[in-house]
Amino acid sequence: MKDITIAIDGFSSTGKSTIAKLLAKSLGYVYVDSGAMYRAITYFAMKQGRISTEHFDRDGLISDLPNANVSFKFNDDLGFAEVYLNNENIEKNIRTLEVSNLVSTVAAVPEVRKQLVKIQKEIGKNKAVVMDGRDIGTVVFPDAELKIFMNASAQTRAMRRYNEIKNNGEAITFDAILENVQKRDHLDSTRKDSPLVKAEDAIEVDNSNISIEDQFQNILKLVNTVLNP
Ligand code: CDP
Ligand code: CDP
Repeated sequence: MKDITIAIDGFSSTGKSTIAKLLAKSLGYVYVDSGAMYRAITYFAMKQGRISTEHFDRDGLISDLPNANVSFKFNDDLGFAEVYLNNENIEKNIRTLEVSNLVSTVAAVPEVRKQLVKIQKEIGKNKAVVMDGRDIGTVVFPDAELKIFMNASAQTRAMRRYNEIKNNGEAITFDAILENVQKRDHLDSTRKDSPLVKAEDAIEVDNSNISIEDQFQNILKLVNTVLNP
């Protein structure tokens, strides 16, 4: 069977990575969380003192970029790849609300995007990849055989994220998460370089009222239609 490229884009916390991981596992494809790469650069910028809630030294970050080596390593126990910054596993460091609140600012910088898109294209050059993000179907893999654009109501998304974080023991209010989700949606959709927009040929899926399993089965049907036309 021929290998294809699957691009999953959409708003924050719509379930992109959950579905992308399930698809990759069932197809034997590589899963790439492109958002983790933008989070990695944000974490790097924080460590370098280039960004905080009070300031953003954009030029400083750009000059530091050659020193930020973002990569993935497959974790056999987890069954997916984790993100590394200069050979340090930073998977846990990048999921904090602090990083979530700064990442859209960093992701709007064209130099950051250029560096990461190059790596993403390289990882996907042999196909057999499921990548999720904001510009995968529009910029990274405009020729992807299957493009999904996921959406759900902001309340639903924030509640899902809230439950996830609560289960991890992090003390965060629902309102703080809702605010973050809405702010990021706005920044990601309105930036100049590679804004979050549905690719013309993407299939839009609203999963506000559908379980992960049902959604996975629906998308698997779409994959099979592409694989066996
Ligand atoms: O998982 P969640 O939807 O909360 O976010 P993410 O996929 O981890 O992405 C974090 C942020 O990275 C997004 O809000 C975007 O600002 C940025 N991003 C991007 O600009 N382009 C991508 N392809 C992926 C993420
Ligand atoms: O990758 P993205 O930010 O789009 O979302 P995610 O991390 O895959 O999903 C965010 C949360 O929503 C996770 O806790 C999922 O288990 C949950 N979810 C859900 O409850 N129902 C869905 N149909 C999709 C995701």
